[in-house]
Amino acid sequence: MAAVGRLAAGVVHEINNPLATISACAESLESRLNEGAFDASPMLEDLREYLGLIRSEAFRCKSITNGLLDFSRTRASDHVTINLGDVIASAVRLLSHQKRRSAVEFNVDIAEDLRPVSGDPGQLQQAIIALATNALDAMVIGGVLTIVASDQAEKVIVEVTDNGVGIQPENLPKIFEPFFTTKEIGKGTGLGLAVCYGILTEHGGTLDVQSTVGIGTTFTITLPAVNLNEE
Ligand SMILES: Nc1ncnc2c1ncn2[C@@H]1O[C@H](COP(=O)(O)OP(=O)(O)OP(=O)(O)O)[C@@H](O)[C@H]1O
Ligand SMILES: [Mg+2]
Repeated sequence: MAAVGRLAAGVVHEINNPLATISACAESLESRLNEGAFDASPMLEDLREYLGLIRSEAFRCKSITNGLLDFSRTRASDHVTINLGDVIASAVRLLSHQKRRSAVEFNVDIAEDLRPVSGDPGQLQQAIIALATNALDAMVIGGVLTIVASDQAEKVIVEVTDNGVGIQPENLPKIFEPFFTTKEIGKGTGLGLAVCYGILTEHGGTLDVQSTVGIGTTFTITLPAVNLNEE
């Protein structure tokens, strides 16, 4: 897997440079077009449309390669002792700034005295954001996004629940695979859960899912608690 990660990082690097050139050329031609440089051309509208397509498709490629990079980076992380409650709180702050869905209510319940875990705060925040973003996407007509963190035996559990569209049973075995997506082209790359799964496995944790079509979905993160007495 480490070899796959290095390969992905190398390929992404090689692809991102020409992609940046393609976008920059399209943008430059578009701004000349907006200044009227091509007004005499009988194909002005085609030109405008094609340049827009080149720019947006290059952007789409860039979000796929960046997703791959995240995926391959999940192996090199910095572990410190952290409180997942703080990680969740900062993830929720970021999500509420996005204000993508005004009809969604956030309901966050973090147990007092939650036991600490050992982990990379940035990666764990990324995992929670990936789950919450999926939950928001699933609640097309609004709903409640619930995040509950609690201790169970020697583990810390985080449940991310939505009352959205749910996952078809035949899709459940596929959702953690890289590039599996049911979202329309340009909306999803299918890397969110694969990255999330990689991050949690690397932390010695697990990611489970329970879903009912038309009712909603719960993703459960389980991480080993740090025993402060043994440190
Ligand atoms: N909370 C959820 N409710 C309903 N379906 C979900 C939920 N979370 C994930 N899925 C399903 O799993 C698929 C894969 O999710 P994943 O996060 O890996 O990719 P994505 O959201 O499609 O794209 P990306 O996260 O890369 O933008 C989604 O396309 C969707 O079909
Ligand atoms: Mg996603």
